Amino acid sequence: MLLEGKNALVTGGSQGIGAAASLELASEGANVCLTYRKHEAEAIKYAEEIQAMGRKALAVQCDIASFSDAENVVKAAVEAFGSLHILVNNAGMNWDGVSWKMTEEQWDRVLEVNLKGYFNFTRHVAPLFKEQKYGKIINVTSINGLRGKFGQTNYSASKAGIIGFTKALAKELGAFDVTVNAVAPGLIETAMLKESEARDKIIDMAMAESALKRVGQPEDLAYLVSFLASDKAKHITGEVIKVDGGQYI
Ligand SMILES: NC(=O)c1ccc[n+]([C@@H]2O[C@H](COP(=O)([O-])OP(=O)(O)OC[C@H]3O[C@@H](n4cnc5c(N)ncnc54)[C@H](OP(=O)(O)O)[C@@H]3O)[C@@H](O)[C@H]2O)c1
Repeated sequence: MLLEGKNALVTGGSQGIGAAASLELASEGANVCLTYRKHEAEAIKYAEEIQAMGRKALAVQCDIASFSDAENVVKAAVEAFGSLHILVNNAGMNWDGVSWKMTEEQWDRVLEVNLKGYFNFTRHVAPLFKEQKYGKIINVTSINGLRGKFGQTNYSASKAGIIGFTKALAKELGAFDVTVNAVAPGLIETAMLKESEARDKIIDMAMAESALKRVGQPEDLAYLVSFLASDKAKHITGEVIKVDGGQYI
């Protein structure tokens, strides 16, 4: 197992990519604290699945946009596990609209969750990783942070921001043996897609772009997350790795 004895914190573990990453990290031996916002029953179910694998698990409610919520989650994870080695900044949202119709609230909320939310958790974990001279931070961005997407100026800006954040953080923490990388999904079949009124149209567009002609699944991301969280990836930092079936080449 790649992650025996390691302790991980995954934001947004009640669904989609975060849930798949939590299960994969646990299957590689890690104890996992996963967070949720609204889907408590799902988060508890995933925590129980992880416990059934023989690992420790914890499900904690929070709004990642809140600095104090992030601090409380990190404290709870350290209290439960004794230490932390892996942070997966994953929880995110979209609230689409063309720029000439977008409200201030739409802009602010997406940036607060998708960009500041990642800072909030990193800020409380970075001193621990620096002190112990070990840590892995994996930030989930998006191919739309690399290329921009029509109707998503707020989301694209937040995800592009995460790429700059990842690179700067990799430079700050590298001397302490802490790696920081970003994973950039293309279209992945999660609630974000399933709940969209434009689901079929979005899938058709992604298929037309995709080299592999396949819609990604949460597990496709989870395998990369667990590799980057492991010491097999110890010489990789400051990278942005696409998992998109060749949707953006
Ligand atoms: N799906 C895609 O096609 C795709 C493509 C590119 C990038 N991404 C990125 O991948 C990440 C995961 O996306 P996903 O598709 O797996 O999403 P998802 O299925 O909608 O799940 C989102 C997760 O984030 C949590 N969350 C959302 N807002 C939160 C907040 N303010 N505070 C705390 N938790 C919050 C949700 O908690 P609750 O459910 O409990 O409320 C849920 O666990 C996101 O950063 C997203 O931008 C996704």
